Amino acid sequence: MPEHADASTSTRFLDDVLHGLAQSPKTLPCKYLYDAKGSRLFDRICTLDAYYPTRTEQAITTDNADAITKRIGTGAMLVEYGSGSSVKTRTLLDHADDLVAYVPVDISAEHLEKTARELRTRYPAIEILPVCADFTKPFALPTPTRAPRRRTVYFPGSTIGNFAPDTARSLLARIAAQCGAGGGLVIGIDLQKDTAVLEAAYDDDEGVTAAFNLNLLHRINRELGADFAVEAFRHVARYDATHGRIEMHLESLRDQHVTIAGHRIAFAERETICTEHSHKYTLDGFARLAATAGFTIQTHWTDPREWFALLYGEARST
Ligand code: AVI
Repeated sequence: MPEHADASTSTRFLDDVLHGLAQSPKTLPCKYLYDAKGSRLFDRICTLDAYYPTRTEQAITTDNADAITKRIGTGAMLVEYGSGSSVKTRTLLDHADDLVAYVPVDISAEHLEKTARELRTRYPAIEILPVCADFTKPFALPTPTRAPRRRTVYFPGSTIGNFAPDTARSLLARIAAQCGAGGGLVIGIDLQKDTAVLEAAYDDDEGVTAAFNLNLLHRINRELGADFAVEAFRHVARYDATHGRIEMHLESLRDQHVTIAGHRIAFAERETICTEHSHKYTLDGFARLAATAGFTIQTHWTDPREWFALLYGEARST
């Protein structure tokens, strides 16, 4: 999801970088990992043997497409958060029962238009209504020509895991309000598992995840005129079992200083910048979180190893 580098977004980027690096411990928002190069590297991560979530979720979707589409409902409007090129969605659209409309929501206008064109050709009976929006902020849903019987939000990819639990709860509460009472949610979550499997998924042997993480420093150099010596940092991914999350860091290999827009920032040897959290849930733990946001989880589908799950919940009336 590349961002457009106009004046206001680059001022925002600079503010966020300076703010994050002034914290102790230092941190940078993970959304900045996705410039054009970062998005390409992320696409490669999704194809790696070590990175199991993408293919596991796709297999769960394929194996349970009828049951999932039954839960989406007849005559429904399906809203996808972070649709990208809607790859997994096609499996659902192929099985959907009289879907009134499909609303892909994504921050990248380019991605959306191309995908919408393809989907209109492939699914002429479904109204395709793309929305270019940052789904972490409130946005309006379009009104389909034919009135839908219900709304179901599809939020795959375990992207919810990149939000801290409190932020995830607020986002889910906003989704519940957007669906309305009786509306549905189909959401992908990555499940807790062996630490070695998790850490390998975020620190692959081919170094793609390392390149993805280090690319953030290249981006700051390029877009903000900073002077990070990128080779003096290394990628680190570790599982924090207490918080149930993978933490990605960039670790300084020596004492050094970096200058960004006239601000000189000191790094001690082994000091890290936290660039991403990826929360891993238990089925019960996520159901409890969703319940506090207004969703009752009714069923789930998982893989034989129980590494990943798609959950279905319904919004309660408030
Ligand atoms: C986008 N998100 C769900 C990925 C994850 O697994 O948390 C981002 C990622 N970071 C490193 N590898 C993948």
